[in-house]
Amino acid sequence: MTTPGKNPGLIAGARDFITRVLRHPIGFIGVNLTSIAGVLMVTLFAMESSGRAVNPYIGILTFFILPLIFVLGLILMPIGRYLDRKRQLTAGLTHDAFPVVDLNLPSTRSRFIFVVAMSLVNICLVSMAAYKGIEHMDTREFCGTTCHPIMEPEFVAHGNSPHQRVPCVDCHVGAGADAYLAAKMNGLKQVWHTAFKSYERPIPSPVHTLRPARDTCEHCHWPTKFVGDRMVVRTHYQDDETNSALKSVLLLKIGGGGSEAHTGRGIHWHVANPVQYRSDESRENIYWVQGSSSDGTVKEFWQSGLRAEAALPDSIAKIEPRTMDCVDCHNRPTHIYRLPAQALDEAMSNGLIATDLPYIHQQGMAVLEAEHADPARAAEEIATALRAFYGESYPDLVSNRGADLDRAIAAVQKIYHDNVFPAMNVGWGTYPDHIGHQNFPGCFRCHDEDHVTADGETISQDCSTCHSLLAVEEPNPAVLTTLFPEE
Ligand code: HEC
Ligand code: HEC
Ligand code: HEC
Ligand code: HEC
Ligand code: HEC
Repeated sequence: MTTPGKNPGLIAGARDFITRVLRHPIGFIGVNLTSIAGVLMVTLFAMESSGRAVNPYIGILTFFILPLIFVLGLILMPIGRYLDRKRQLTAGLTHDAFPVVDLNLPSTRSRFIFVVAMSLVNICLVSMAAYKGIEHMDTREFCGTTCHPIMEPEFVAHGNSPHQRVPCVDCHVGAGADAYLAAKMNGLKQVWHTAFKSYERPIPSPVHTLRPARDTCEHCHWPTKFVGDRMVVRTHYQDDETNSALKSVLLLKIGGGGSEAHTGRGIHWHVANPVQYRSDESRENIYWVQGSSSDGTVKEFWQSGLRAEAALPDSIAKIEPRTMDCVDCHNRPTHIYRLPAQALDEAMSNGLIATDLPYIHQQGMAVLEAEHADPARAAEEIATALRAFYGESYPDLVSNRGADLDRAIAAVQKIYHDNVFPAMNVGWGTYPDHIGHQNFPGCFRCHDEDHVTADGETISQDCSTCHSLLAVEEPNPAVLTTLFPEE
């Protein structure tokens, strides 16, 4: 009987264990891989938690590549031991095919304690890497910049939107393990397309795999909250020397989202009352619409011309109907690309561009809409063209108001870079916005008096269905002087 002797200690156990593993080249490689990867991982974790390493490439190294090397090393160690024992067996140095683990032997015991302790440390390290890796994949930096420049348009637009603080995954993945898995599988496909540059430019929209808004938008936006009207004032600058401002004032009827009473009227009526439609892939051309009101009335509208017979043509009837949700109107809640006029109006209203620079609206429009043969030089060309105009027509202004001119040029350059992405073929108006009807068909895809029921009823285009127009393009709308007499 072996007597339990004194422990030689953990250090001796470690030394003993490592010398045994190092005896075979495979084990030697394993020990080195694991220790180097382990040290780098711990260092980078520390850097990451102190907020220093936000670069997505360092993230991929820290959370995916190093842990993989670490685990590979761990797997090589027992393989090395196994091969070493086989070698000893053939050389006749031992007779046991498998190691004898006798914890009564002090040296075996300290080795055993070392292996158990290290395994616990390794489990902690690897699970931390896995957790951090998953967390890292959910950041907007990972989604938006890893495959730079593919996601650049969406990333930049997201950064300029009201949802800047909402991570990509909150809308594109949503909650739940199954959604997570589906997104990761889809992600693998995207890695493939990125590696072989086989992705589409621009990335197609609508996104057919987007989850229903109930699982994403409605986690933050409560549909029953939509009540009443919202006043909107829009300023549109003109092309004359003084950039005269014309204002439109409307009361948008944003109510109607009541989920219980279902009696609310207004734009968010569509949320409480299911509307289904059949359309082409782009969802631009709508063939058939069905609106069901809470009072039980169901109305079917056909695109005029299709309503010749009592039934839809086969090619259209077999299209899976889509139930309208938030994204059918708010398709650009965060990837908001503006048109030149819209963006200039906003920058001028916000004071980013001084509105008393003569002809700045006209000149700004001209340089934004101009073709730039070499996109990398667009910013430079914008600056040159604007300086040339003012140098020639208003030389005094260039010397007296140089700072205002510089600011205006910077703002116009930013408008260009926030909305035009030549590498992805994204230009002005590439992605339509469905929220209104001025720049794109939007609401008028259905509200066009051209979708008709069997009784000849249409989906209303009456201007007061969606808003009260209090002023349209007026220099001094009476409604504003009444409301704000002091201004
Ligand atoms: C507030 C919700 C929301 C967030 C946050 C969000 N997206 Fe989107 N995304 C959308 C919607 C809605 C669409 C368009 C869906 C449609 O038309 O079917 C879209 C479309 C896209 C498309 C397809 C091309 C296009 O512009 O239509 C890409 C690519 C994309 N998003 C990437 C991203 C990336 C990368 C991020 C993070 C930087 C992100 N999204 C954050 C809601 C969101
Ligand atoms: C994680 C929470 C979150 C999710 C998910 C989310 N939103 Fe929002 N959304 C917000 C917040 C917060 C604001 C207010 C931002 C502000 O006022 O600056 C906002 C603002 C908005 C606005 C008003 C924008 C404006 O110009 O005033 C719209 C419209 C909107 N969201 C639609 C959507 C749609 C559609 C989706 C789903 C595709 C969605 N949101 C998903 C949090 C969210
Ligand atoms: C896919 C088709 C479709 C689109 C797109 C669409 N609507 Fe509608 N809308 C309908 C149908 C159907 C009705 C019900 C018509 C009826 O019952 O007479 C309706 C009714 C309405 C009503 C009246 C609700 C009430 O109180 O009775 C408003 C307001 C409205 N829509 C606003 C909008 C706005 C704003 C947009 C664009 C942002 C829009 N709709 C886009 C199909 C659509
Ligand atoms: C029929 C089209 C339509 C649908 C469907 C729709 N909205 Fe809207 N929503 C609008 C319009 C139009 C506005 C006002 C214009 C604007 O904000 O640009 C608006 C305004 C909003 C606002 C700003 C409200 C405020 O108080 O200023 C939010 C937030 C919003 N919608 C979220 C949602 C969410 C979430 C859903 C899905 C549950 C949804 N909407 C469904 C058309 C729609
Ligand atoms: C189905 C709903 C709907 C109908 C019908 C409708 N509008 Fe609109 N309209 C909107 C929405 C939504 C907006 C706001 C879009 C936005 O936020 O940019 C808007 C914006 C406008 C604006 C302001 C645009 C700006 O940026 O200055 C004008 C002007 C306008 N509508 C005129 C009309 C006229 C005229 C009619 C009647 C022929 C009409 N609309 C019918 C939904 C509608």
